[in-house]
Order: sequence, then C-alpha cells, then structure tokens
Amino acid sequence: MMQESRPNGTQFEGKEEYVKDVFTEIASYYDEMNDLMSMGMVRGWHKFMMKKAGNLGSKRCLDVGTGTGEIAFMLAERAGIDGEVVGVDITPKMLELAKEKMKGRGLPRDIVFEEGDALSLRFEDSSFDVVTSGYMLRNVTDVQRAIDEMHRVLRPGGLVVVAELCKPDNRIVRFFYEQHMKHRVTKLGRRYDRGESIDGKQPAYDWLTSSVEGFPHGKEMTAKFAKAGFADAKFYVKTFGAVNIYCGRKK
Ligand SMILES: C[S@@+](CC[C@H](N)C(=O)[O-])C[C@H]1O[C@@H](n2cnc3c(N)ncnc32)[C@H](O)[C@@H]1O
Repeated sequence: MMQESRPNGTQFEGKEEYVKDVFTEIASYYDEMNDLMSMGMVRGWHKFMMKKAGNLGSKRCLDVGTGTGEIAFMLAERAGIDGEVVGVDITPKMLELAKEKMKGRGLPRDIVFEEGDALSLRFEDSSFDVVTSGYMLRNVTDVQRAIDEMHRVLRPGGLVVVAELCKPDNRIVRFFYEQHMKHRVTKLGRRYDRGESIDGKQPAYDWLTSSVEGFPHGKEMTAKFAKAGFADAKFYVKTFGAVNIYCGRKK
C-alpha cells in the first residue's frame, strides 16, 4: 500500500528503514549535493566544529552518523598518528564511500569506519575523549537516546560537538531560507533524486527539507544535551541560523 508521501513530523513509522534507504540512494552524489546546497559553507561549519573540539592530538574520537567521512577525516588529521578515530553509520553504502575516499587523504592513521546504530553504540562507557556528529540527529528515531549514547561513551571531561540544520528563527532570514530551500535545494534535489519515491514515501531531497521543519533546535535542543548530563551545554548559530552547533562537556 502506498503510504503517505509526506510523513507528518520528523518521527513516523518505518523511519529507520526509510532513512537507510534514502542514504543508500543518494550516497554516490551526497558530497556533491552538500557542497552545492550549502554553497561551500559546509567546510566552514566543520572547521568551526574542530575549533570547538579543541586540541585533538593523540585523542580518541568518535564521529557518529559519519556518512562519507568528511568530519572524521578532519578529526584524523588533527588526532595524528597517536590518536584514534572511529566513524559509525547505519548505512553501509555511505561507509563504503568513506573508506574509498580515505585512501586518497594521506591521513596520519587510518580511521576505523564501521556499521553501527547511534541509538545503541557498541562502545564501553567513558571510552572516547571527543564525540562529533554532523546532521544525523534529524534522521534518528529517538533524538534524546542518541545524545544519551554520545554522553555515555565520553569520558568525564570529554567533549561533544554536534552540527544540525535548522530553520532560522528570524522572520526575514527565514523568508530567504525558504526561498533557498524551495528554489535551489528542491530543484537541485530533483536533478539528482529524479523525484522518485523511496519506500512509498517522499523522495530523498524532500526529506531533507521536511525533516528540518519543526525539528527542535537552539535552546530546545540544548536542553536535551543538558538532560543527558552535559555541563555548559550551549549552541552556536551559523549562517544566520540555518545551522546550529551544539557543544557540551561531560561532567
Ligand atoms: C546527513 S548525513 C550526514 C553525514 C556526515 N555526518 C556529514 O557531515 O556529511 C546523516 C548520516 O546519518 C546516518 N544515520 C542516520 N541514522 C543513524 C543511526 N541511527 N545511527 C548511525 N547513523 C545514522 C545516515 O546513514 C547518514 O549517513
């Protein structure tokens, strides 16, 4: 049976399977689209994340929802030969690309890319110095649990740095954001995903735009980091509120 083509809200039945199928579908052009949609700004957001992660030399780092590995590569460059980086994702196709890309990066030490679920990480408590995650939270079925898991695997004093898209709060900025999403992102998306339904639901790049709608951000999201137990949970606004970067330290 054909399901609702535009799921209501960011949580819906069959979401985990749908998300996996979306990222399997778009994996081969994910990086290219990211660059086009963000007009190259994604690199600046990642650099800011690294700044917030502090000195990574010899640190053990985890990137959750690592996708094609861009954030993990930046961690590995900074962690150096004595550091260690693990990248976890639920979509094997995204991980395949991350592994392929890693060959040409000349990293001081290989990243361990492995399949895993952000909602039940296989790692021991307090086993990482730094946990990062980019644009994954909208895609999980339980946001609080994903943040709780990041907290659990961090050692006391360890840092979390998470980037997520959001709809700008400012009315004027929101107008331009909506134009960008409607005209640029949707059109670009159509060129790549051809408007094909996935699992009887909306096409891949429609999910990108609709998943931002009503997704908690700013103070509401920061409260989830505080609830998980992070001290000094705060967020930084990037690109006029289209991206928030959440940071916290495990007590
Ligand atoms: C928008 S992509 C972001 C990829 C990468 N972090 C980046 O910055 O480009 C979201 C990623 O989260 C992954 N993902 C979604 N739900 C997940 C889960 N429960 N556990 C692990 N990864 C998940 C998807 O497979 C996808 O690769």
